[in-house]
Amino acid sequence: MSNRRPDSMERITTPALAGSFIDEQVAAIREQVGDGRVLLALSGGVDSSVTAALLIRAIGKNLVCVHVNHGLLRKGEPEQVIKVFREELGANLVYVDAVDRFLDKLAGVADPEKKRKIIGKEFIDVFAEEAKKLDGIRFLAQGTIYPDILESGPVKSHHNVGGLPEELNFELVEPVKFLYKDEVRVVGKALGLPDSMVYRQPFPGPGLGVRCVGAITRDRLEAVRESDAILREEFAKAGLEGKVWQYFTIVPDFKSTGITDGLRTYDWPVVIRAVNTVDAVTAEVAEIDFGLMAHIVERITHEVKGVNRVLWDLTPKPSGTIEWE
Ligand code: XMP
Repeated sequence: MSNRRPDSMERITTPALAGSFIDEQVAAIREQVGDGRVLLALSGGVDSSVTAALLIRAIGKNLVCVHVNHGLLRKGEPEQVIKVFREELGANLVYVDAVDRFLDKLAGVADPEKKRKIIGKEFIDVFAEEAKKLDGIRFLAQGTIYPDILESGPVKSHHNVGGLPEELNFELVEPVKFLYKDEVRVVGKALGLPDSMVYRQPFPGPGLGVRCVGAITRDRLEAVRESDAILREEFAKAGLEGKVWQYFTIVPDFKSTGITDGLRTYDWPVVIRAVNTVDAVTAEVAEIDFGLMAHIVERITHEVKGVNRVLWDLTPKPSGTIEWE
């Protein structure tokens, strides 16, 4: 099949256009796979979620979604995937708790690229193991979108590692491969996915693993996850969700002294990064109200275990990348 978006294809900007796209794709998927079963790695990101919802509409339980929890997801994410896909959409969902497996492999590894490679390889291994358990599946669905094909998406092509082993010889099903991100969101909305999934900020494949700087430890990882949850909650309350392009916390691998209830502490800092960008190639720091910043600092230092200080990263890209690793 051609990898070029047909010139005649209209941009999907309205629920009605999304509706026709969904009808067309449902028919095309049924035509392609018949009564065969289809496998999909469901991360909970926009692209894989919309792909899953389309396939569920087309073939129901003949889609098998595999959600791998590698321990580097944000707070509440695995629960949301299970709630939306298994409970609300009735999906055939295999949930794999691979947390210990990933964290054991990552223990003591400080080099960012080695961390990425381990996470990428382990992910493929876990997924391939699940695929082998499910005998007789010929099709693999993927949430490839048009920028991935054009390779103007520096993100996935540049960062994500590897592919599936060749013995898993699948025929690909890629229903959103000619869509741009904004179109994927319109389709996701029309398919009834929740806003928190459809308008989700970008989240790297290696997840919180690249925000727990250096060798990942479980306690520092928890500090990243908890502080990230507070930041997201406060940005949402302030109406900044969907307005600031990407915002998250980082926990570096050093400590500083502080004071809590009259006692000296020696704990980690949390770094906050909030940026705006068009294409992630360059980025500017988002201007945040000082009162909101102070409130977030207060909450993080009081609520997150092992943290006594908060730093706000005011570095544009360049010179800093968006992520710290
Ligand atoms: P940087 O840090 O290179 O990030 O300025 C640009 C965008 O890419 C995301 N990013 C990743 N995405 N796997 C991904 O899927 C990765 O390894 C990865 N590293 C960075 C980052 O979150 C930002 O949106």
